[in-house]
Amino acid sequence: MNCIVNVDKNFSIGYEGDLQVRLSPDLKRFKDFTVGNIIIYGRNTLATFPKERPLPKRKNIILTTRKDLEESNDVHVCHSLEELFDLKERLIEEGYSEDQFFVCGGESVYRQLLPYVKKIYITQMEVELPSDSYFPSLGDEWKITYESDMQESDGIKYRYVNYEREE
Ligand SMILES: NC(=O)c1ccc[n+]([C@@H]2O[C@H](COP(=O)([O-])OP(=O)(O)OC[C@H]3O[C@@H](n4cnc5c(N)ncnc54)[C@H](OP(=O)(O)O)[C@@H]3O)[C@@H](O)[C@H]2O)c1
Repeated sequence: MNCIVNVDKNFSIGYEGDLQVRLSPDLKRFKDFTVGNIIIYGRNTLATFPKERPLPKRKNIILTTRKDLEESNDVHVCHSLEELFDLKERLIEEGYSEDQFFVCGGESVYRQLLPYVKKIYITQMEVELPSDSYFPSLGDEWKITYESDMQESDGIKYRYVNYEREE
């Protein structure tokens, strides 16, 4: 299972229930990584998507305790981590691979699922933004395996950094 996230200088990921900034190359990258794959996220993150709807062209797994969310072939609702892992096993039996699962936030879901993640794709912005949600701090078991050159979009400098868990 992978994790994908956009962070600021202090590893903050959101403010007042939304992303602090939408960086177009990062949104494009998120799409490139996740289309055709499986995204796992919490109900608060669903509220940040266009029209608060699951994202098209990929399988969506939404974590919530609510019972009123609509499901379909590409939208699954899980009410606990246990339900999530049962579903993940079924999807793997159907032919999906571990590498196709992307944990997409927010803070509570990153915290709960990080112990099961092997690889993290981070977009690290070189700015400090107003924040009230954070990505969990990464322990010594996490090693940087890739770092892109610094890039810039809409006046914000950022780079892509991949981390992998050392066995
Ligand atoms: N920078 C990034 O890359 C990035 C990515 C994603 C999100 N974000 C930001 O992160 C912030 C949201 O984070 P958050 O922690 O508040 O929300 P979240 O993790 O998106 O969603 C939390 C909700 O998910 C459900 N949930 C979580 N764990 C569950 C479990 N084990 N079983 C059942 N339901 C579970 C609960 O929904 P119910 O209340 O319905 O029970 C919970 O209230 C926003 O600011 C957002 O913009 C940033």
